[in-house]
Amino acid sequence: MNAAVRTQVAIVGAGPAGLVLSHLLAEAGIASVVIDSRSREEIESTIRAGILEQGTVDLLAGIPGSRVHSVGSRHDGIELRFDGAGHRIDFTGLAGRSVWLFPQHEALRDLIAARVASGQDLRFGWTATAIEGADGERPRVIATDDAGGALAIEADFVVGADGSRSVVRRAISGSHDGFFREYPFGWFGILCEAPPSADELIYSNSPDGFALISQRSPTVQRMYFQCDPDADADAMSDAQIWDALQTRVPGHALIEGPIFQRDVLRLRSFVARTLRQGRLAIVGDAAHTVPPTGAKGMNLAVADVVLLARALEELLLRSDAHLIDAWADAALDRIWKAQHFSWWMTSMLHVAPGATEFDRRRQLGELRTVASSEAGRTYLAEGYTGWPLG
Ligand code: PHB
Repeated sequence: MNAAVRTQVAIVGAGPAGLVLSHLLAEAGIASVVIDSRSREEIESTIRAGILEQGTVDLLAGIPGSRVHSVGSRHDGIELRFDGAGHRIDFTGLAGRSVWLFPQHEALRDLIAARVASGQDLRFGWTATAIEGADGERPRVIATDDAGGALAIEADFVVGADGSRSVVRRAISGSHDGFFREYPFGWFGILCEAPPSADELIYSNSPDGFALISQRSPTVQRMYFQCDPDADADAMSDAQIWDALQTRVPGHALIEGPIFQRDVLRLRSFVARTLRQGRLAIVGDAAHTVPPTGAKGMNLAVADVVLLARALEELLLRSDAHLIDAWADAALDRIWKAQHFSWWMTSMLHVAPGATEFDRRRQLGELRTVASSEAGRTYLAEGYTGWPLG
């Protein structure tokens, strides 16, 4: 049951970063093998957020069969709420760009279908266990499957798009070597059957904490409210959840409906110290985590691999190491901007446990500064809709 395959780029992880990378490499004529420990069904059914920047949408729209324009919906702004009133941040007017709401699992379904249709070597149910030859010209990914099979993928380059518990990161720099922050609050998230409570997403600050009113479709809505990171998602009744949400969006009546999923998310920021070493690199959640308040996660993953694909093209097709040597710094430039934006949105909107009356009034001063000044609103609009890739 031991098998060995040889390819140009071995990609560990079939999430947005790994699949978009394999697509971009194939377009450049570079072969890759993609493995993921999960099944195709699991990847396609895990519901995750999906606010896509214009650049991400343009890239996805160019992939055959993409439904980003038909299933996704364009959002030209958000509402920032505080002190009981809403303030629209007009993305198109302020930054000349929009975002799209297209849930990540829908994007993944499209990407997997497109990769399979074009003959991509894509293997589900294979768990990478080690990276061998990390210092040489021919690194190898060692993987196993549930049936006791073993696979060695020898490649010119190995990319870890394998999420926050990345095996490739461990081979580069040790598993947690990097810059880390854990926030003293989490998000209690629900999915419910109801029409949208508003046309656009609402990011609301209130004396009781933050709430986000998001959407999934005309009949399913996603909402979150700030909670203890150790909260038990099953400990609240539906009525208590609606009360918590409504209290955090004062002045705007939410449309309630049956809640069919609930979860508690922890909020973290992380950037790995080393993104590349020799012929290994990490991208997406393997390289960084952002709190969800800035809606940056998937966009940052796509930006990493757009830059990496260009660098691998130079390296593997023209033996030019110029771009790969500059890649980590180029990626980190955007990653730290997104880290700052996500941290800023998070701290501006949440109420930290133990916040004093000074903290609270200062925060309202900040929110009023942003909402009342065109420069403030433009800063938010530019960060949220994403910086051009250059
Ligand atoms: C979501 O719809 O799940 C969502 C939207 C915007 C965010 C975070 C999550 O900033």
